Parts: sequence; structure tokens; C-alpha cells
Amino acid sequence: MTEKTPKLRAALDSVPTYKPGKPAAPGGPVAYKLSSNENPYPPLPGVLESAVSAAGSLNRYPDMACAGLMAELAEHFDVPLSHLATGTGSVGVAQQLVQATAGPGDEVIYAWRSFEAYPIITQVSGATPVQVPLTDGDVHDLDAMLAAITDRTRLIFVCNPNNPTGTVVRRAELESFLDRVPSDVLVVLDEAYLEFIRDETVPNGIDLYRNRPNVCVLRTFSKAYGLAGLRIGFAIAHEPVAAALRKTAVPFGVSQVAQDAAVASLRSEDALRERVDALVAERTRVAGALAGQGWTVPESQANFVWLRLGERTLDFAAACERAGVVVRPFAGEGVRVTIGEVEANDLFLRVAEEFRKEL
Ligand SMILES: Cc1ncc(COP(=O)(O)O)c(C=O)c1O
Repeated sequence: MTEKTPKLRAALDSVPTYKPGKPAAPGGPVAYKLSSNENPYPPLPGVLESAVSAAGSLNRYPDMACAGLMAELAEHFDVPLSHLATGTGSVGVAQQLVQATAGPGDEVIYAWRSFEAYPIITQVSGATPVQVPLTDGDVHDLDAMLAAITDRTRLIFVCNPNNPTGTVVRRAELESFLDRVPSDVLVVLDEAYLEFIRDETVPNGIDLYRNRPNVCVLRTFSKAYGLAGLRIGFAIAHEPVAAALRKTAVPFGVSQVAQDAAVASLRSEDALRERVDALVAERTRVAGALAGQGWTVPESQANFVWLRLGERTLDFAAACERAGVVVRPFAGEGVRVTIGEVEANDLFLRVAEEFRKEL
């Protein structure tokens, strides 16, 4: 008798595996991780104390409703409690959104290249990904995304700023796009990097969601707030969508440590602003240095920069690694480099300068 293996859903066969940013090699000369768009700063003031205190009750389940955090978020963003939903990182909430809207036969539209979790969560749900290439300037092609809408479209991701290019869509073009998307298609504005935006023509998604029931804003505590390790993100959306998100959430998915750390982080706004300003200043310095070396880099409004290296992508990533910085290569396309500690950025710039001479 031949051994049978458990039957798995055929939809999983084509699901790409999520590639996490490589960690810095242990024992290497200097080792900086610029591969996951993490925040180089430790938790904000008061956060560690809250987390440690919550850790004293690890024998208990967390508050499933995240009531304390929800109240804080509602006040902070001036939105009704019923418009909020949390999850295990914003990628967890993104997965809840797809599960709530799209199954086999349905379509999910997003730009490409963009956040690499979009194809994964779409296919895990059994839905069909519809990838719309970025423009030559590495920006969302909103007209092409509109043209891609069919009667099977259920959800559209707009990643603003876009990962990995750092490029943005501006208020007028985004509003005109939203005005033309059918009202029964959910548009998710993924604003994981919103805090790093300094271009005033870029809208805050919360202003756009208020009078648009088909718009959902996705935010995270992983980037500017520096809580990537705790896995906590949230969505702001009108009631039917927010309620569906609560249904598709993993019960007790968000730990009490994460909830309390998030509350303390929201209360540390001045320190947050200081750190984000410092990272933005570093971004300006790095982008200026790269331009000075002769690179053409799309203007980034996020905490990373994008070097389009084509066939030389993996060589460049290897050169960075030899110098003690780990970056995030997308083979054949380019390299995304997180803005990190000043020393790490300097190391990266040194490699970029040498490499530029070879091109
Ligand atoms: C655009 C975008 N959205 C969402 C996420 C998910 O972040 P998290 O799940 O840590 O909140 C990331 C992480 O890299 C991202 O780049």
C-alpha cells in the first residue's frame, strides 16, 4: 500500500514563501541589519516598563478586545471605537482584510513591485492576484490599476509610501482614483511608513477614509514606533469592514505585552517625533550622498532607499555584506536599503561609492 500524504489546498502550490530580511551575520566584523526596514532605536521611553509589567501576567490570556489600546487609538486619531481593529502586525490585519473580502474566483489588485506579502496573503485566501506594474518612475500607476478593475475585484492595496521604492501617490491623484473605484470594492491604504513622509502633498489616509465607506487605513507599530518584534498593527475602517476584521482575527492574537507597549508608545509622541526626524535627516543625507555618487534614486518618503541595480543586484548585496551591512536584494531588480544607524549608513554609502565606479 502506498503511503498517502495529507491533502493540501492546491491554491498553496503557487504561494511564494515570504523572505524575511537577512539578519546580520553573528561574529562578523561589523554587522548592521538594513534589510527589514526596522527602527534602529530601542523602544520609546516608558515602553519597556509597560511591557515588562504586562509580562508579569503571561499566565493569563490577553484582553481579546484590546480595550485599553482601542480607547487610546480612538482618541489619538479621533475615530469611533467601532472603526478600529487590531491584529498581529499590519501584515496580520492585511491578511484579515483579504480573508474578509476575497476567496476563490475573486481578484485582489496591487502595484508591483510592492510589499511582498500581498501576493502571499491573496493566494492563501484562494483569490487571484492582479499585479499592476509601477510606472517607469517607480510610482503606482493608478490609471492602470483602475483599468484592471473587473466585476471580480474585491480589494485594492495602495501602498503609500510604496515598499520597496519609497515613492508616494499624492492627494489629488489618490482622491481622483478613489472617486472612480466602485463603492463595493475595498481600497486599503497601507500606510506602514506614514510617519516618515515629509512631502505635504501626500495625504493622510485617515482624512480620506472619513467620508468613504470603502476605504480602510492600515497602520503599524513596527516601523516609526519601533515595536516590530511585538507584532501589532491596526486598521481604521467603517463599521462593516472593521467588524469583519474582528471576525477574521486570530483570537487572542495580540499579546498583552504588545497592547500595553503600544499604548505607552502612543503616549511618547515627543520622543517619537525626535527619532523620526533624525531618521528623516539621515534619509536626506544618504539620498544626497547617493546622488553625489551618480546614482539615480527615486525620492523616498519612507525609512529606506531603493537602488535599481538590475543584473548587478546580488553582486551589490554581496559587497554590502562583505563590508558588514546586510541589505535586501530583489534579484534582477534592485536593492532596498533601510536607513539605520549613522555608522551603518556610512558603511553602505562607502560600498555604493566603490560599486558605482565599476558600473
Ligand atoms: C508596506 C508594508 N505594510 C505592512 C508591513 C507589515 O508590517 P508589520 O506586520 O510589522 O506591521 C510592512 C513591513 O515591512 C510593509 O512594508
